[in-house]
Amino acid sequence: MKSHDLVIVGAGLAGMRAAVEAVEANIDVAIITKIHPLRSHSCAAQGGVNAAIDPNDSWEVHAYDTVKGSDYIGDEDAIELMTREAPEAILEMDRMGCPFSRLEQGEIAQRPFGGASFDRTCYAADRTGQVMLHTLWEQLVKAKVPVYQECHVLKLVTDSENHVAGVVALDIATGMVFGVRGKAVLMGTGGYGRVFISNTNATTNTGDGMALALRAGAPLADMEFVQFHPTGLLTSGILVTEGARGEGGYLVDKEGNRFMEKYAPSKKELASRDVVSRAEQTEIMEGRGDNGGIFLDLRHLGAEKILERLPQIRQLTIDLEGVDPIHAPIPVRPTAHYSMGGIRTDAYGASPLKGLYAAGEAACVSVHGANRLGGNSLLDATVFGKITGKAASDYVKSRPEPNFPDEAVAEVREHIREIKMHEDFGLRPVELHARMASAMNSFCGVFRTPEGLEQISTQKDGRRQRYKQIHIDDKSNAFNMDLLRAVELENLIDLAECIVRGAIARTESRGAHSRTDFPKRDDAQWRKHSLFSWNRDQGVVELSYEDVRTIGKESYIPKERVY
Ligand code: FUM
Repeated sequence: MKSHDLVIVGAGLAGMRAAVEAVEANIDVAIITKIHPLRSHSCAAQGGVNAAIDPNDSWEVHAYDTVKGSDYIGDEDAIELMTREAPEAILEMDRMGCPFSRLEQGEIAQRPFGGASFDRTCYAADRTGQVMLHTLWEQLVKAKVPVYQECHVLKLVTDSENHVAGVVALDIATGMVFGVRGKAVLMGTGGYGRVFISNTNATTNTGDGMALALRAGAPLADMEFVQFHPTGLLTSGILVTEGARGEGGYLVDKEGNRFMEKYAPSKKELASRDVVSRAEQTEIMEGRGDNGGIFLDLRHLGAEKILERLPQIRQLTIDLEGVDPIHAPIPVRPTAHYSMGGIRTDAYGASPLKGLYAAGEAACVSVHGANRLGGNSLLDATVFGKITGKAASDYVKSRPEPNFPDEAVAEVREHIREIKMHEDFGLRPVELHARMASAMNSFCGVFRTPEGLEQISTQKDGRRQRYKQIHIDDKSNAFNMDLLRAVELENLIDLAECIVRGAIARTESRGAHSRTDFPKRDDAQWRKHSLFSWNRDQGVVELSYEDVRTIGKESYIPKERVY
């Protein structure tokens, strides 16, 4: 059996940053990833990464903005840790050779982003995630870190003492199922954007690490908080960076009128994402949108600025929407973008399941609370990738070789065999996915109505039943994408159930969770995290709650959130 001290699942920014740290600590570390590392979804974060590197800014103000942005449900110790570490984390990336955009004197350039009281988003044109990913990949190639590429993890394995013992994975190229023993497993598997039909996410974002952790006995937290990015392209959902508004872009209705002043008089287009998405959705619902969308107008920025700062989004808009933003407004709409929820961890990435760590979007540390600020995602992945990589490395140093139960691999093989055996009367994975994800957009999206939540909740059992009969046409072993879609869908179904359960239970509106029947935030009852755990005997998700970790700073006391 393959064996490593630390097994990292996922090769995005968080997973790779953690691996760099493990290499520093001289740990036997390996990465398992279902795609090549450079195709990881971190590359889709376009606009930038926040850090108070300007002498006129401070990590304290960054922390305040983040607490406020989280709608007062982010854990304050973790937020302070992230914002304090941010400048060094970015300068480290800079020293590794990350090609950030520069000012004339050579300093790293920074642009305004939503919900921030200082222009603190460092960027590389509109390809920031991509250049950061490449920078870390160079480090891993240099250190010769073993990477199991195109291997999809299907089970998180625990031993008889309920300590993590490794994972079972499917080699997508050959169909072989194999075990990897590990003293600790670190999930850097990203989010679950594919739960929704309209989203900015890669097809790979199926929340695998969260679902595996849940089934293995680790709690998830705050799953009802799903961020809708205000500017997904209308037809494909592909991201148009917040950097476009940071550079001065306007949101306009179908008559060309700006509308954000009504909703956020001071920050307008640069209010936080939950506020802007709700404003757009309101305009659309009240008939001032066009074809289900609204417009992002960049024309006044001029061709030179668009070509220098936003070249990728110009090309994407031409290719996918048939519109050149130099000459015409871009049709956009709010689309599912980011999972504030995830595997519950402490501020150092450790989950309550011994030996399980998580970082980046897969984790709920929680620094984003009910609403993440743009530019804090690449930062979270970088800072907590490093911190969690160190914590997991320290943990494995004192652990004996785990006892990997033999039956784990056999169970996964049997599960795959069963899926392949289903008779040809069930739905195909893509069909069942489309039904579920469309319903999630309609009934559990930007605004959540009691009728919509009721409707989606009643579909849950039927969906699970239909999954049991799912049919795949491809029965082969090599590159069986049909099978991959089927096992990913199982994860999405579990996570959708958590999202809906959390949304129904939370009878208030906070951050990205907006209930039409409970339009106000209710701090007395709901300033707390939702925790989701899997009841193995009954096969159901159970819900409990946990206090927010506060540190007693006066400026963090909840107030009305206005921008
Ligand atoms: O809009 C963007 O460029 C996305 C950045 C983020 O989600 O942090």
